[in-house]
Amino acid sequence: MNSLHHVAIIMDGNGRWGLKNKNSRNFGHLSGLKNVENIIDISMKVNLKFLTLFVFSTENWRRPKTEVNFLFSLIKNYFKKNLKKILDKDIKIKVIGNNRGIPKPVLNIIKKVQTKTKNNKTLYLNLALNYGSRDEIIKAIKKAKHKKINEKNFDNLLFTKKIPDPDLLIRTGGQKRLSNFLLWQLAYSELFFVDKMWPEFNKNDFLKIINSYKKTKRNYGNI
Ligand code: IPE
Ligand code: IPE
Ligand code: MG
Repeated sequence: MNSLHHVAIIMDGNGRWGLKNKNSRNFGHLSGLKNVENIIDISMKVNLKFLTLFVFSTENWRRPKTEVNFLFSLIKNYFKKNLKKILDKDIKIKVIGNNRGIPKPVLNIIKKVQTKTKNNKTLYLNLALNYGSRDEIIKAIKKAKHKKINEKNFDNLLFTKKIPDPDLLIRTGGQKRLSNFLLWQLAYSELFFVDKMWPEFNKNDFLKIINSYKKTKRNYGNI
C-alpha cells in the first residue's frame, strides 16, 4: 500500500454548479469555499500532512472584474472570520504564487495568517493564489542565476520549496487538464479526474480516490 503525504486539488466547476443551482457563478464560489472546509476536515481525519489547493490561477485575471473582485473578497473575509478556527485546528497556512495584482488588504491578511500559523504542525495547507507553474519556473530560473543547477536544488527555488511533491492530484469539474498547476511537481503524481463539480465533491468521493491511490503500483520508471 502506498503511503499518502500530499494531495493537490484543482477545485474546478464552482461557476457551472452555481449557475445551474442559483443562476449565479458567485454562489458557486461560496459553496465551493464551504466544501474546502469540509475537505480540510476529512484530510485531517485521515492524517494527511500536506494539502495544496488551487484557488486562483495567473490566467484567472481574464475573468470579468466583478467575479475576480468577488473571489478576493471571499478569501479576505474567510481569513478575517476564521483565523481562530485555523489556529485551533493547528493548521499551518502557506500561500504560494505571485503577489503582483493581489489587492493590498488581501496581501495583509495573508501575511498575518501565515505569521500566526507558522508554528502549527498538524496540517500544512498550501493555497495557490495567483499561481501559475510557468511563472514559478521562470522565477526560479531567474533566481538560479549562474548557480550550478540540478533537480534537487531547483526544487528549492520554487514556491513549493520544502514541500514534498504531491502523491495525488485530483481535478473536479470534468476537464482533464492541468491548467498550469504544479507542472514540475506533478511529474510522478497519480492523477484523478472527477466529473462532479467542486461543491458536490464529498467525503466518499475523496476516500474512494485515496483508497484507489493506495493500491496503485508506482513504478517511477522501474518495473
Ligand atoms: C474553479 O471553478 C474556481 C476558480 C477558478 C476560482 P470555476 O470558476 O472555474 O468553475 P467553472 O469551471 O467555470 O464551472
Ligand atoms: C483552474 O480552473 C484554476 C482553479 C481551479 C483555481 P480554471 O477553470 O481556471 O481552468 P481552465 O481555464 O478551465 O483550464
Ligand atoms: Mg473552471
